Amino acid sequence: MRKGCQPVAWHGDHVVIIDQTRLPGEEVYLKLDDYREVAAAIQELKIRGAPAIGIAGAYAVALGARRIKTAEPGRFRRELQDIIDAIAATRPTARNLFFALERMKKAAMPGHSPADIKQALVDEAVRIHEEEADATHHLSLFGAGLIGDGWTVLTHCNTGPLATSGFGTALGVIIAARDQGKLVKVLATETRPLLQGARLTTWECRQASIPVTLITDSMAGYFMRKREVNAVITGADRIAANGDTANKIGTYTLAVLARENRILFYIAAPTSTIDGSVKTGDAIPIEERNPREVTCIQGVPIAPEGVEAANPAFDVTPHRYITAIITEKGIIGKPFREGIKKQLEGDAR
Ligand code: MRU
Repeated sequence: MRKGCQPVAWHGDHVVIIDQTRLPGEEVYLKLDDYREVAAAIQELKIRGAPAIGIAGAYAVALGARRIKTAEPGRFRRELQDIIDAIAATRPTARNLFFALERMKKAAMPGHSPADIKQALVDEAVRIHEEEADATHHLSLFGAGLIGDGWTVLTHCNTGPLATSGFGTALGVIIAARDQGKLVKVLATETRPLLQGARLTTWECRQASIPVTLITDSMAGYFMRKREVNAVITGADRIAANGDTANKIGTYTLAVLARENRILFYIAAPTSTIDGSVKTGDAIPIEERNPREVTCIQGVPIAPEGVEAANPAFDVTPHRYITAIITEKGIIGKPFREGIKKQLEGDAR
């Protein structure tokens, strides 16, 4: 099930994405038919959010394969691998990108002709898109049961339909709770440096008619201490086998503040975000982005020219701060390692 403004649509020989760097001021749609354009759009955050990055990455592989000219199977596979490697190099943290690329690689079945593989890649990308959208719908319904009537829920970054090409993760849970008839208010952190909360979450809340109050990242503790937050819920870019979770920079700070103030702290993500091969959060690769994203706001300098700035895009929240992890297969409580293992084996619900 898909809801709200969808970030990517497949049109047979091209994709159309909404340029998220231009929201909320302008709704600009981009028609992309070259995998390099899609890769650049991912790197530049025109399309963003872990599940949406995975879906766009899958379509990029299908677009790249269409343009391979050789009919010689060995050469075709080598060129396809180069395309997959280029897409993989765009953003290192979101597990969903690698999940999708691994599936695309498997779909390029050995022993089949390049023409058959090209079609199989399109079919697989569409399947990944549908499955991811369904997963976010299911996890939102599971998570909605954890939200009480009349609650104020604090969320970080942007995790709605725009970030998922589906229903949403953390914001999907909030939307589903409201759809169940609960009165829910959102406190949205602005999410410096790139303001996904200020620009996108407030916009999606408005579209979904959910009351939202924008706060700066540094105000979160103030509202928690005043008992004005009932729960914090965020998405994830990669979850390690022990439940440690990488998400947008600032999530760790929120989790520690939530613990200090005895506030529930939930993570909502599809199982495609879980990386069972990574034992703990220490092994999750953290994307470092251009420091200009910190020294400027929307291109306008706010610091002295040439000043040094750091720009890690994500941080890791240790599993001990997390109350539960919500996926499309159900709610994982502690101990996370066992619950995660069961869900990855596909037998938990
Ligand atoms: O850098 P972004 O905007 O891609 O970061 C997105 C987030 O951190 C989201 O919280 C995460 O991808 C989960 S989304 C559904």
